[in-house]
Amino acid sequence: MSAQLIDGNALSRQLRADVAQRAAALGVRGITPGLAVILVGDNPASAVYVRNKVKACAESGLHSVLERHEASMTQAELLARIDALNKDPSIHGILVQLPLPGHIDDHAVIEAIAPDKDVDGFHVASAGALMVGEQGFKACTPYGCMKMLESIGRKDLRGQHAVVIGRSNIVGKPMAMMLLAANATVTVCHSGTADLAHHTREADIVVAAVGKRNVLTADMVKPGAVVIDVGMNRNDEGKLCGDVDFEAVKHIAGWITPVPGGVGPMTITMLLVNTIEAAERG
Ligand code: GUN
Repeated sequence: MSAQLIDGNALSRQLRADVAQRAAALGVRGITPGLAVILVGDNPASAVYVRNKVKACAESGLHSVLERHEASMTQAELLARIDALNKDPSIHGILVQLPLPGHIDDHAVIEAIAPDKDVDGFHVASAGALMVGEQGFKACTPYGCMKMLESIGRKDLRGQHAVVIGRSNIVGKPMAMMLLAANATVTVCHSGTADLAHHTREADIVVAAVGKRNVLTADMVKPGAVVIDVGMNRNDEGKLCGDVDFEAVKHIAGWITPVPGGVGPMTITMLLVNTIEAAERG
């Protein structure tokens, strides 16, 4: 293996220690940072994600409230809950776990969250703020990827070519905006891209965020490149794996994130960072 690992667990520990300190400082002022997590239905993966988020809050001294609702909850009922949480001064951040049951419009729900409590960074106001460089909450997964780049000395990306594979609203698009804000030259590739390898071979930084195994193979990577793997998939043996052919790419890349233990823990860490920031802003 020639690539160095970017360890999301180790970096998360450092960042979460800072969150815990900031939570303690707020405590002195009589403020307990509070996150409300809403889960609708019984998607097993979502149940695991929200449990991990709630656990991470407790470990960093943040107060969290987990609301579990039946899959039969109506959109109007969910919007009423969000309205109540928007007005609740003990709650600084609101997260509605996606996906929602089919009869509920994700977009309408996200837009109902007050932008100053939108710690997921999914609200149009948050996305727009990122686009024009104003203050707003950044989507947690791409924000975590940026922190990983910073941790290896890649904060100002002037002169570097970054290729993002995937164009979701949650990862691909905000990732491209954050890389651009850090002065990278950014290419966004997606299912309509004619020759993906042509682009990735030119990249100093590749972020794979498709949700499909082996999207990035060794022949597609420039020697020494930084490879960030946002994917969360299962292989034929049921083992967790990313979008990158890790075993082959690690011999070519200069830096690479593992799955698990890479971007995954960073997503939750940045949720804690956003929540503490929301509480500090008051
Ligand atoms: N579903 C998958 N990822 C996420 C996330 O980061 N936030 C929320 N709310 N739902 C998700």
